[in-house]
Amino acid sequence: MEFSVKSGTPEKQRSGCLVAGVFESRKLSDVAGQIDQVSGGALATILRRGDLDGRLGQTLLLHNLPNLPSERVLLVGCGKEKEFSDARYRDVTAKAAAALKDTGATEATSYLTELEVKGRDIAWKVRQAVEMTQAALYRFDRLKSKPDNHRRALKRVVLAVPKRSDLGTGEQAIREAQAITAGVRLARDLGNLPGNMCTPTYIADQATELGKQHGLKVTVLDEPQMRQLGMGALLSVARGSRQPPKFMILEYSGGKEGEAPIVLVGKGITFDAGGISIKPAANMDEMKFDMCGGAAVLGTLLAVAELKLPLNVIGLIPSCENLPDGDANKPGDIVKSMSGQTIEVLNTDAEGRLILCDALTYAERYKPAVVIDIATLTGACVVALGHHANGLFSNNEQLARELLTAGKYTYDRAWQLPLWDEYQKQLDSNFADMANVGGRDGGAITAASFLARYTKSFKWAHLDIAGTAWKTGKEKGATGRPVPLLTQYLINQIDHGNYEPRP
Ligand code: BES
Ligand code: MN
Ligand code: ZN
Repeated sequence: MEFSVKSGTPEKQRSGCLVAGVFESRKLSDVAGQIDQVSGGALATILRRGDLDGRLGQTLLLHNLPNLPSERVLLVGCGKEKEFSDARYRDVTAKAAAALKDTGATEATSYLTELEVKGRDIAWKVRQAVEMTQAALYRFDRLKSKPDNHRRALKRVVLAVPKRSDLGTGEQAIREAQAITAGVRLARDLGNLPGNMCTPTYIADQATELGKQHGLKVTVLDEPQMRQLGMGALLSVARGSRQPPKFMILEYSGGKEGEAPIVLVGKGITFDAGGISIKPAANMDEMKFDMCGGAAVLGTLLAVAELKLPLNVIGLIPSCENLPDGDANKPGDIVKSMSGQTIEVLNTDAEGRLILCDALTYAERYKPAVVIDIATLTGACVVALGHHANGLFSNNEQLARELLTAGKYTYDRAWQLPLWDEYQKQLDSNFADMANVGGRDGGAITAASFLARYTKSFKWAHLDIAGTAWKTGKEKGATGRPVPLLTQYLINQIDHGNYEPRP
């Protein structure tokens, strides 16, 4: 999908479809008012008949309004004007995109970007319009023998900006949004692909391909190389599977040589059956999404490369399956991590922390500026925060704040949970340096506390995305989160040039 910005009034546009908002009850937005005026009150007349009163998410498609050069007008209900907010702006732009794709229009010009949104500027509105439109048009139908029957006429969306002087800002916002969208799409595609296709080897091939396309240095470690490094925790999980494990290293060098990199570590369990501590059957299919942390790392690196950010960023993705097998981890087994610390595996289903701890130890060699790991780590995080917020943990308050800020800006929000020392004793083991589980209480926190034992030598944050990486139910599918948050965090790290940090 192509996007561009334009400034100019609606009556002059020769568009396949103009998009304008209407508030409750039948209150025309400025632009809808202008359309009404040139068309001799046609909009007001139609609304008076009761076809649309402006409730949030309503849409009404009109054709051939008098004196209007555009073929169609799509009216979108925005709810009460007083209650209009950034969240509602997102809903409205998504609804508009969904309605547009069912019209025959190949091009549309949206004036929703001119709606007033409290606390948000034109750059934000353009960014969100692009991201919401792309999300609404996303389909994963490549594995259906006949693709879903969708008219895909829409090719180009023009976003209106109020002033000519906003055009540059708008174009930059489109650039950022398209990069984030590409990253989100990659993360969603990888997440949605089933476990029999999206294996560690497949992800490694995708990483290699990404590197070729975007000039990243990609290294894939195989099992003997991991053994050499002493990644005993990671390999203990991989032993339960016939798929060979992979450890991917992606290096993007857009910053100064020798500048400390930001390291992203993504959990890449391509299927989590729980191992010998096997999961119940219901919804187990969703454990194909257990590699979404790894997918988010790839997606973020894609966005970073497309934006050519002047930073050094490294992605690490430990990847394997967690299955029951005669050679799998058994409850009570003790394994030795790359750090030298030993771990009693009391529950083989707490495998994410076992592969991440070795990846985090590996990250030390880069003398990183910061390390951020991203993982579908705990069901407890879903219980605590539901499906809206990423769980955030950090050993550095500034880093935590910066991630929260990036999450607020992109609406890919995070919520911080504590990492106090008091939680550590839940991980005590009689037989090893620590256990891999800390009981039911504070399960998301004890998982993070486990990782904290491997991240003492650098600034570190952990994003638990178990509740946000995919949707369940009728809309089941990967979301691509937290690619927007991570990309924004990286954009905000730049202090010069075209990239103004946006609070
Ligand atoms: N991948 C799961 C976490 C998960 C579960 C994410 C359900 C989303 C929905 C992780 O590997 C896991 O199984 N965690 C266990 C940890 C427990 C054994 C301490 C969990 O959350 O039940
Ligand atoms: Mn598990
Ligand atoms: Zn898992």
